[in-house]
Amino acid sequence: YGRQTFLLTNITGAVCAESFLKGHPPQIPDVLENGQIQDRTRYKTICQTYKNQRRFFTLYDTANKIPVFSAYIFKGSKTGRPRNLVWMTEPNNDKKSQASDNDYKNNSGYDRGHLYPSSYGYSREDKNSTFTLTNIVPQARTFNQRSWSNMEQCVKRFMEKHCIDNNNQIKGFLVTGAEPGNKLLNEKINIPLKMWSAFCCYNSTKKKWFASAHWGDNVADTNDRCLNTNTLDKLYSKFSKGTTAFKLFPEELCPSDVSRFVS
Ligand SMILES: *[C@@H]1O[C@H](CO)[C@@H](O)[C@H](O)[C@H]1NC(C)=O
Ligand SMILES: *[C@@H]1O[C@H](CO)[C@@H](O)[C@H](O)[C@H]1NC(C)=O
Ligand SMILES: *[C@@H]1O[C@H](CO)[C@@H](O)[C@H](O)[C@H]1NC(C)=O
Repeated sequence: YGRQTFLLTNITGAVCAESFLKGHPPQIPDVLENGQIQDRTRYKTICQTYKNQRRFFTLYDTANKIPVFSAYIFKGSKTGRPRNLVWMTEPNNDKKSQASDNDYKNNSGYDRGHLYPSSYGYSREDKNSTFTLTNIVPQARTFNQRSWSNMEQCVKRFMEKHCIDNNNQIKGFLVTGAEPGNKLLNEKINIPLKMWSAFCCYNSTKKKWFASAHWGDNVADTNDRCLNTNTLDKLYSKFSKGTTAFKLFPEELCPSDVSRFVS
C-alpha cells in the first residue's frame, strides 16, 4: 500500500475511484486486501448513483446485509434534511442479498444509522443519495443520536474551517464503516459491534494534510459518553488482523501518528 498504488482491480462496472483519496481504496483485513476483494460473491462494490450522478462508494456485505464501509468526499453542505424520504435499495432482482425497508421496521431500539451522513451531502441530491439501505447499519438509537452525531458535527465543523484545498474549496476525504457483530436484527440484518470513521484532508494555507479517526461500540450511550479523537495509527492497530493491516488512506499523505484535529 504505502509506496505502491493499488487500485480496485478485477471488478466489473464503475468503481467510483474518485471517492478515494488519490484513488487508493481502503484495506480491510479479510475483505479488501491490496485492492482485491477477497470474496467477490459476498462483497459487492456499489458506485452510489443518484439522478444519473455518481455520489459515493459503498462496499456491501451481502451475507451480513450491511455495508462494510462507505467512502465519500465532503465539499461543504447546504442546510436541511430531505423530507418525504423514500428508502432506496439496489435495483437488482436479488432481494435476499440486501436489507429491505421492512427489515428495519421492527427495530428494537436500533436506528437506521448512516455511514455517509445525510448532513454531509453538498446538494439536496447528495443528501437524498445517502438514503439507501446499502449505506445503513442498525445503530443503537442513543449512540446514533448523541455521541456519534456529535462527532459527525465536530468533524464537519473542523473540515469547513481547515480543509481548504488549492482551489479554495472545502474538501475532505472520509471513510466510515462498521465491524460486524454476532447478533441479528429481525433474524436477518447484522448488528455491528463497532462503528468507525476517519477523515483526511489538505490545508492549502499550512500546506499540510490533516487526519483523525473516531470509533465507538454500537451500544446505547450513557449520558456523558463521548468519542475520543484518535490518530489513524490507533484506528489502524485497533482493526488490523494478524499481519494484515487495516488502512484507509495513502500513508505518505495522511499523517498517521498525529491527530491534527483542533476544534
Ligand atoms: C429527494 O427525495 C424526495 C423523496 O424521494 C423527493 O421528493 C425529492 O424531490 C428529492 N429531492 C431532490 C433534490 O432530488
Ligand atoms: C419484533 O422483534 C422482536 C425481537 O426481535 C420479536 O420477538 C418479534 O416477534 C418481532 N415482531 C414482529 C411483528 O416481527
Ligand atoms: C487551514 O486553512 C484555513 C483557510 O485557508 C485557515 O484559516 C486555517 O487556519 C488553517 N488551519 C490550520 C490548522 O492551519
